[in-house]
Amino acid sequence: MSTWIDLGQKVIIVTGGASGIGASIATNLHNNNATVVVCDLRTNDDVAAYSDHFVQCDITSKASVEAMVAEVVEKFGRIDALINNAGVNRPRLLVDFYGEKPEFEATEADFDFITNVNQKGPFLCAQAVARQFIERQEGVIVNISSEAGVEGSAGQSIYSATKAALNGFTRSWAKELGQHNIRVVGIAPGINKRTNMNSDENYAALAYTRGLDPDHIDTDYASSIPLRRVGEHEEISDLVSYLVSSHSSYISGTTLNITGGKSR
Ligand SMILES: NC(=O)c1ccc[n+]([C@@H]2O[C@H](COP(=O)([O-])OP(=O)(O)OC[C@H]3O[C@@H](n4cnc5c(N)ncnc54)[C@H](O)[C@@H]3O)[C@@H](O)[C@H]2O)c1
Repeated sequence: MSTWIDLGQKVIIVTGGASGIGASIATNLHNNNATVVVCDLRTNDDVAAYSDHFVQCDITSKASVEAMVAEVVEKFGRIDALINNAGVNRPRLLVDFYGEKPEFEATEADFDFITNVNQKGPFLCAQAVARQFIERQEGVIVNISSEAGVEGSAGQSIYSATKAALNGFTRSWAKELGQHNIRVVGIAPGINKRTNMNSDENYAALAYTRGLDPDHIDTDYASSIPLRRVGEHEEISDLVSYLVSSHSSYISGTTLNITGGKSR
């Protein structure tokens, strides 16, 4: 199949590609002829239909990440791009000032869990993959950030802080690695169609932190967006395919908002 964005022969790793936005990214890359490796804690029944290889990997473990990268290089001979997509969230208040649900006040365990996956994970993956990129003097890293990392987010301060850190990685790695012909780009999605991350459990927690009715949170969200609708996963994955392609060869060190007009 010939497409405008032809990623033929590019070997691309998508972390967290077994679900939600990551599955959409992997599918989009696959449809644009890339060789797609999904790396995730767990697989699913469909992953073989939209990828060329699955590696079980915990991105918070250096040993697991290094084994994953070695496996990909062994199987495909090289890596052309990394999509740092895997992420987690637990909506929590800094202090439970409502005094009704102490379980929705942030704990040290919440901090460690969210920070390990969202900040340490992309660091470990980028480091292991960048060693390969530097050898070949070529490569692209796309960090999936969030609007929350730019704007802050009530009830999601730890998540927001990890995404702000990811934006710092994007700017800094682009400065370090540009001389090796390596681009680093971020994408900051706003509110999207629901995924496991926006599970009923997480929405109930988020609604509590904001004093909202959980049954109305979807419609409240949509009305806060200038385009008056939440984003589609394909709108993010189309952007990822563009950013790993040669059409975006001069874009690096920046994080692009994809928020229906909501973010500054
Ligand atoms: N859903 C949204 O509205 C939204 C908005 C903005 C940004 N994002 C970002 O998009 C990315 C994908 O989110 P999603 O909504 O598709 O979530 P999701 O929960 O559907 O998918 C996340 C995937 O990451 C995997 N994962 C979690 N921890 C891992 C680990 N330690 N090692 C390897 N894999 C791990 C999970 O197994 C899962 O398959 C995240 O970085 C998230 O922060 C999502």
